[in-house]
Formats: sequence, C-alpha cells, structure tokens
Amino acid sequence: MNRPRIVAGNWKMNLSFEDAVNLTEQLVESLEDSVPEGVSVVLAPPFPYLQVVNDLTQHCEAISVAAQNCHAAPSGAYTGEVSAPMLSSLGLQAVILGHSERRALFNETNAQLASKVDAAFDAELAVIFCVGETLAERKAGQQNQVVLQQLTEGLGHLQAADWDNLVIAYEPVWAIGTGETASPAQAQEMHGYIRQVIRQLVGAKVAEATPLLYGGSVKASNAAELFAQPDVDGGLVGGASLNAEEFVAIVHAIA
Ligand code: PGA
Repeated sequence: MNRPRIVAGNWKMNLSFEDAVNLTEQLVESLEDSVPEGVSVVLAPPFPYLQVVNDLTQHCEAISVAAQNCHAAPSGAYTGEVSAPMLSSLGLQAVILGHSERRALFNETNAQLASKVDAAFDAELAVIFCVGETLAERKAGQQNQVVLQQLTEGLGHLQAADWDNLVIAYEPVWAIGTGETASPAQAQEMHGYIRQVIRQLVGAKVAEATPLLYGGSVKASNAAELFAQPDVDGGLVGGASLNAEEFVAIVHAIA
C-alpha cells in the first residue's frame, strides 16, 4: 500500500519570531528540491507565526503548515482562543489535535477532542490526531486499552470518508521530550494495533490508507529505523524539528 508519508515538525511554544523566520528559510532552502517523492513535510509553528511560515513555504509544494490546536466553536466570546475557520482563512491546511500536552496540561478530554475534530473538518482542515499512553499506563500493560479509548471516543463518530483528511500520530507520553524513544518494534506493534482498531471502526480500506506517524524523541539518528517499520508512515517531531539540519536529516531518513 502506497500511503502518503509525512514528516511533521511540532515547534510547540518555542522560538522568537526572528528564529522562526530563520528556521523556515533554512528549511525551504534545504528541502525545496530534496523532499523525497511521496513525502509531505508539515510545519506546525506557534499561532502568531503561522501566516509568515505559510507565506515563506507557499512556493514549496512538499511543505504545508498546520496549527497546533484550535477551539471547537467557529467564533465567539472565547478570549485567547483560535478557531478552525480562522486557521483556514489564513490558507492553512491542517491542525494537530489531541497532543498529549493538550490532554495533560489543558485537560482536553476525548469528548472535547471529538468536537474539535468536527470543527476542523467543518473548516476543511485536515487533522493530525495524537494518541498515546503514559509510562504508568504502559507499565500496567494498558497501552492498547488507552489508545483504543482515545481513538473510539475521539474519532468513533466519523464516517469513512472523513478519514481521507485524518492522520494519526502515536506518541507514547514517556517518549516525548525525554530522549527515550520507543523501539522500532514497540512502535510497529502499536501502529499495527491502531490499524486494526481503524479497521474495526471504519473498515479495511480506510485502515490501509490512513497514515500513522510515530512521535516521541525522533532524531536523525533513530528516524530511519522507525520509518522502516511497515506500519510507520512518518513522524511527528518535537525538539529535533527546531534545528534545520536535524529536521532535514529526519525528512531524508524516510526515503
Ligand atoms: P519530541 O516531541 O520529539 O520532542 O519528543 C514530540 C511531540 O511532542 O510531538
């Protein structure tokens, strides 16, 4: 199955405006003619930089820009929040939803995330939907159960056609920003399970077609073996996406 392959950089709450522009310019220069065929690169900068990063990457077909979050309502009295229609009015194509930091630090529930996914689709944004277990959950052997619940409660209401605009990122919380990466075998095992869950939710065709990204301490030095796993279709990269050389090497590792 020739699924789309994706390397996404989640910049989180990092970089000054100047640093963000510099990083984008370096990435465009290095990746303009070197993104492997069939690979898409996604950059997810903080909200205030979305427009400039989108402008700077506009001529680069392999690079697109995503937001890191959105609100479930299209507009209204929600001071400090950003809606999905606002993001698509900037010309953006995607939004990351359900990142473990949003779940843990901002108490986002599966039910709220289901509403955010609907809001994103209503605004014609694609969604990179994150799932993953904590260390305690893995130690208790509950990782499949946790991921199953995140998928069914967050995405179980969707129709098969909605999945055309959905990418799943498996990010074990114990591997995020810790330097500890899931082994290629652990990543493959969970990705195989996620594909099985999607099959049960919406059928084999969608399960085969949905890109599944691995996230959690992906680096240039471990990307190739993770991406070589049959059910790993790319990565969601945090820390290493803030360094142009490192991120470019990760993009090239998918070839
Ligand atoms: P990390 O973050 O690569 O710094 O571990 C990944 C993520 O949170 O998306």
